Parts: sequence; C-alpha cells; structure tokens
Amino acid sequence: KLYKIATIPGDGIGVDITEAAIQLLEKVAEVDGTFKFQWENFDWSSKNYKERGYYMPPDGLEQLQKHDAIYFGAVGWPDVPDHISLWGLILPIRKYNNQYVNVRPTRILEGTKSPLTQCANKPEDLDWVIIRENSEGEYAGQGGTTHENSPHTIATELAIFTRVGIERIMRFAFETARSRPRKKLTMVTKSNAQRHGMVLWDKVFHEVAKEYEDVEWDKMLVDAMTVRMVNNPQSMDTIVATNLHADILSDLAAALSGSIGIAPSSNLDPTRRYPSMFEPIHGSAPDIAGKGIANPVGAFWSAAEMVRWIGKGELDHVADGLMTAIENVTAAGIKTKDLAGSANTKEVTEAVCKEVEKV
Ligand code: NAI
Ligand code: MG
Repeated sequence: KLYKIATIPGDGIGVDITEAAIQLLEKVAEVDGTFKFQWENFDWSSKNYKERGYYMPPDGLEQLQKHDAIYFGAVGWPDVPDHISLWGLILPIRKYNNQYVNVRPTRILEGTKSPLTQCANKPEDLDWVIIRENSEGEYAGQGGTTHENSPHTIATELAIFTRVGIERIMRFAFETARSRPRKKLTMVTKSNAQRHGMVLWDKVFHEVAKEYEDVEWDKMLVDAMTVRMVNNPQSMDTIVATNLHADILSDLAAALSGSIGIAPSSNLDPTRRYPSMFEPIHGSAPDIAGKGIANPVGAFWSAAEMVRWIGKGELDHVADGLMTAIENVTAAGIKTKDLAGSANTKEVTEAVCKEVEKV
C-alpha cells in the first residue's frame, strides 16, 4: 500500500525535524515492508515568501488535496511579522481542510524528567490529551482596525463560537476520554468573565455530557487550570479547551512534561473528507536554528500519530512500535540538550532508526 504525504518543512528547525521525520518514516516502512510512502515536498517558507510575495501559490490548497496526509514542520521567521506567516500558511491549511480538531497528547517519556519534581516523578503522574478546538473561537480571523496610525486607533479581535463548532469538538473530546483507561474529561473555559461564547460552551458541554454517562467530567476556568496543571497533574486525563486557551495550555503541558521539543499535534478532519495535518507543537526556534540540536522527538511522535491516522486501524501496531522505539532511546539517555542530554538531532534520529529495527 502506498501513502501519499505532502511535506511542508517551513522555516528554521522545521526543516531539520521534517528531514529527520522523513528519514525515520522511510526506515519504519522498510522494516514493516507492507506499505510505502510517496513524498511530495512544498517549499512554502518565509524565505520564499520574501522573494515571491506569497507563502502558497493560488492553487496551493488544492495541491494538498491529492495527499493522504500533510506533514508540517514550523512556519515563522523574525523578518516576517508572525501574523503574516501564520495566516499565510498554517491557518488557511487548517481551515480549508476542515481540521477542526487539534489533538495534543503530553506525557513524561521514559528517561526524561518533569520540572514538577514535587508531584510528577513517574510517567503516569502526567499523562494528558488536550483536545483543542481548531476552527473557530479566538482564531476565527474576524475583526479589523480603524483610524490606523492615529492616536485613537481601534482594533477588534472577535471570537466566534457556533453551536455546531462546539458540539463537534465536545463529542470528539468525550470520545477521546472514553477511549482512555481513566475515562475522565476536564472542560476549560473562562465563562465567568466571557459571558456569551464561553457560556454557550458550558451549555453545549452539559448537553453532550448526557450522552456519555460512563465518562467522569469536571470543569475549570482557564486561570485556575494553569495552577492545577502545576500542582496536581495526576488529577487530569483528557482536557478540552478553545483554540486560544488550548494553544497556551498545551505549551505549558509540554514544558511540564519535560520540553516543548517532545510534544506532537494532529490537526484532524474527523470526517476524513480532507487530508489531516501532523506537526510538532513547537515553532521554528530561530534561537537554535541551523545548529543541528533541535529535539526531533515531537516530530517523531507526530509522525507516529500520522501513521496511526492514515492506517485507519491497520497500522496501530506500527505507530505503537515507533513510540516504543522513541522511548527506548530517551530511556537510554540519548537526548538533546532541552531534555538535559548531549546528543544532537542527527544522533537521536539515528538511534531511533536503529531501535525501530529491533522493536
Ligand atoms: P518556539 O516553539 O519556536 O521556541 C520556543 C523555545 O523553545 C525556544 O527557546 C526554542 O529554542 C525552544 N524549542 C522549540 N522547539 C524545540 C525543539 N524541537 N528542540 C529544542 N528546543 C526547542 O516558539 P517561538 O520562539 O515563540 O516562535 C518562533 C517562531 O515560530 C515564530 O515565528 C512563531 O510565530 C512560530 N511558531 C510557529 C508555529 C507553527 O508553525 N505551528 C507554532 C509556534 C510558533
Ligand atoms: Mg502554540
């Protein structure tokens, strides 16, 4: 079986970790022998934006359609304003392809350490899946600026919440919670201060919860949630939050589990009409770009989730094997600097490739 994958390495360390992920996936396919990848690379980067005046060509989104999945590195570079790069590339891809769910698992990998040394010492002490609403909310793209360059400039940034959008993300979150051993869901809002959209979140949450009586749930305000994540990480399992809240909470989650460099994400179209997209949650990291020291683990974990998704249940054993290989390598102490190790990107990649042959 042949899987067609579009790769968009983007900028900075996005390029290094995408290359590492392709190398690893090629190895995985070779070892398994029942499937192959066909890669198509898209050079949509900030550097090319500066030369061409666009990130994607006019038919860019259509070009992605013929692929089974999209593998994304990171986009953004200091010489292009970040809202231009995000809205020029990653956000249109998510929106056009109906990727309304962003799944962000986090846990303490074997051989790595949480900075929460008082309450998170074992892998099971911090094992979360954050379900991020990925299509609307605070990143709906609505708003505007009037009297630009005047002392009286007004800018609005409108958050949009629809019943349809909330209901589908809640259902996905409950299904995820149900599929995990603890069957536990925490719903995050700011429905005390934000009294329209967030109150609708509460309302729809309670409606959907009735369909999932076997799932235990609780609710948190986002500010208190940050405290609970630090003080009582064991008390949570699956978490659902809005586009902005989950964006922030998942960076915190990644740091609490050891490093932002290990955290993966899946941008899913659960209807499977459009290709889904897989990417580590981190950005282009200009401060370490070009040094060959980026942690490729988040990219590898994202690659494992891509294999799981495109396999539709038939490649779960391959994805699981890949995760075992990654964790055997971290357990053996072959880690990059952000995880208090001394290996570089290439050494970690080669170690995981070698481990794939064994597991
Ligand atoms: P960042 O995630 O790129 O970096 C934050 C810090 O974490 C830096 O100190 C960096 O060195 C470190 N870090 C990140 N990934 C790492 C890895 N794999 N291994 C080791 N250390 C790692 O976030 P920042 O600095 O806010 O953003 C840089 C650029 O990336 C900006 O242009 C931003 O807009 C963009 N960005 C793009 C994203 C995407 O493409 N999905 C997501 C987040 C940011
Ligand atoms: Mg983010």
